[in-house]
Amino acid sequence: MKKFYVKDCPDHKPVHIWIGESLGMEEKFINKMKPKNPDVLYEFEDTLLDLEKLKEDSEKAFEEYGWYGFLNIFGGKFARSDGYGGLSLVYNKDYRYENIPDNAQTLGYPRSNFPDELFTENFELFEKVMEKRLDKDIWSEAQEFGMHHAFRFLHKHEIIDEQKLNELLAKFPDRKDVGERINLNTYSDTWGFNRWSDPAKYGYLNEIVKRVKRSPVRSRLAQIKNIDTEERKEQANKYLWHRDDTWFYELRINLSLHNENNVYGIEIENYGSKPFIPGNWYVWDTYVTHRPYVNQAMPGKARTNYVLAVNPWFDWIEEEQCWVQNEFYGEKHPADMVIEGDAIEGLKLVQ
Ligand SMILES: [Fe+2]
Repeated sequence: MKKFYVKDCPDHKPVHIWIGESLGMEEKFINKMKPKNPDVLYEFEDTLLDLEKLKEDSEKAFEEYGWYGFLNIFGGKFARSDGYGGLSLVYNKDYRYENIPDNAQTLGYPRSNFPDELFTENFELFEKVMEKRLDKDIWSEAQEFGMHHAFRFLHKHEIIDEQKLNELLAKFPDRKDVGERINLNTYSDTWGFNRWSDPAKYGYLNEIVKRVKRSPVRSRLAQIKNIDTEERKEQANKYLWHRDDTWFYELRINLSLHNENNVYGIEIENYGSKPFIPGNWYVWDTYVTHRPYVNQAMPGKARTNYVLAVNPWFDWIEEEQCWVQNEFYGEKHPADMVIEGDAIEGLKLVQ
């Protein structure tokens, strides 16, 4: 089994992309491998969980370690949300940004060169970017080549017309703060977050850690709160559409902690929505556009999810600071791994 040492990864790539590219994972697996049990959204009951204890200790963890609002990822400004946030369950000991506490590492980071108002003032632009699945590219293009280049990129991909392009070029300065693409040990470096944080090991939360059979990556205890009015609800739902890495890189297993009034759930593009059942876990390909939703204002209430992400096909060797391919690599689809108990102990597929 091949080992990949983080020290060999170039600065401009996140580790998973560096390894994925060198093995040709996209062509060989990501684009064509299907699960034995095909579905869009998998739901699992948990045969081992004490939900009340987890809820109780999650609240205590927030009291003990704090609550970090998600950092603005639509612009360059450091602004934390008061509606979406929580605690990081993992951290990267070599994280590049020292101004971010370990327990907040997986809760966002601003975008280099990006004007703060671009998407808030032009929401239709954000929608089109998501529709054409250019969200990841637009951030990288802006980061590497500056903002004006990114506007031209939007024009090239027919997201904006010539008139809009000229308008944006005139309005926003061409920021090139970074000048080169740095991704290793940044927020984009999904596999960099591979050590359990103190909150992850707090009280009953540690019982979940003990059941996880794979190396953790970008994971968090995520809360949606302060959705006090209908207007706030509309606003939140609008901006929650997003994509994460594919489940071949970042296998998300999402545990719902509560769902008073049945107002919280998950919505997936071209599939529809499903309300969460507290105590159940949910898996889907997070590369497909999706959003957590709240379908009613919930003054004074919060929605908490334990968002576990594991690396399905590589295991972390701390002593050697390297990732090594495991026995599932290329052999078993990540969704089947959850179904067959290779990712976490105690889950039973709801059929
Ligand atoms: Fe997501």
